Amino acid sequence: MKNFKGKVFLITGASSGLGKALSYKIAENGGYLLLGSRRKEILNEIKKDIEKKFSIKVLTTYLDVSDERSVKNFIGTALENFDSIDCLINNAGIGLYGRVENVSLSDYEKLFNINVKGIFLMTKEAIPYMKNQGRGIIVNISSLAGYVSTPIITLYASSKFAVRGLTDGLRRELKSYGIKVIGVYPGPFESNFFDNAVKTEEGIRIKRRKFFFSTSEKVADKIIKGIKKGKKNIFIKPDWKIIAKLHDNLTFLFDLILSSEKYSKNLRD
Ligand SMILES: NC(=O)c1ccc[n+]([C@@H]2O[C@H](COP(=O)([O-])OP(=O)(O)OC[C@H]3O[C@@H](n4cnc5c(N)ncnc54)[C@H](OP(=O)(O)O)[C@@H]3O)[C@@H](O)[C@H]2O)c1
Repeated sequence: MKNFKGKVFLITGASSGLGKALSYKIAENGGYLLLGSRRKEILNEIKKDIEKKFSIKVLTTYLDVSDERSVKNFIGTALENFDSIDCLINNAGIGLYGRVENVSLSDYEKLFNINVKGIFLMTKEAIPYMKNQGRGIIVNISSLAGYVSTPIITLYASSKFAVRGLTDGLRRELKSYGIKVIGVYPGPFESNFFDNAVKTEEGIRIKRRKFFFSTSEKVADKIIKGIKKGKKNIFIKPDWKIIAKLHDNLTFLFDLILSSEKYSKNLRD
């Protein structure tokens, strides 16, 4: 999709971070928006601001991606108000820090319900309409952690590996219907993600080294460029792409570094 003008974009998790940054940049490019997340009042503030800045049609709806009824309502709102669904961006997601033995079943379920089941429900609901249209783009936000799993974020990484599997399989399932499926694999970037992550151990936090961090705006720019160029996989920095690609061939090296006590200590504040 080279031109966003008049195209309809559905974005999950649009109330903060990457979802919010994407909303502004897509509007700037002339795209119409349906924004969803649980904090509808924040979505409405974003809607007002975007409409004022870009004179673009923006709709907002309460959305809990882990709830089937809420997802059906969200897609229903899109169909009632727009003639098509050109691009669905499955961005909503949460983090979880903790060693596996310290994670409760309910926290595990919360993580997978949002990060994996959420994309399953959203996509399942959107596919029939995209098939009918004979076109559409589905963008799934995974993570560099969808390639490389490290201590303390093991379960979060598992959820993002699942998103990668879902993305690659869907791309192959849907190609013949004219539907493109894109996977996004960002490394760390500034957002509310780190404060919102489920923490399973008292005082656990991930050390944020500014040097490695990108911003939501830069990640959003890269995604928009990737959609315009029709990329299958979007990495934000070339060295992150190299790390992801090297991992399978140099697993022993990654094991050596990531298994060390020093590495785990370094992750914490
Ligand atoms: N930040 C990073 O370093 C990083 C790196 C790689 C990948 N990612 C991925 O990037 C995506 C965006 O994260 P972010 O960094 O922008 O984090 P964020 O600032 O915490 O934003 C997360 C968004 O997801 C929404 N959300 C959470 N649970 C939801 C649910 N059940 N239903 C609907 N929306 C829900 C939140 O909105 P409400 O609270 O209003 O529902 C919020 O808008 C996530 O998938 C994350 O895994 C982040």
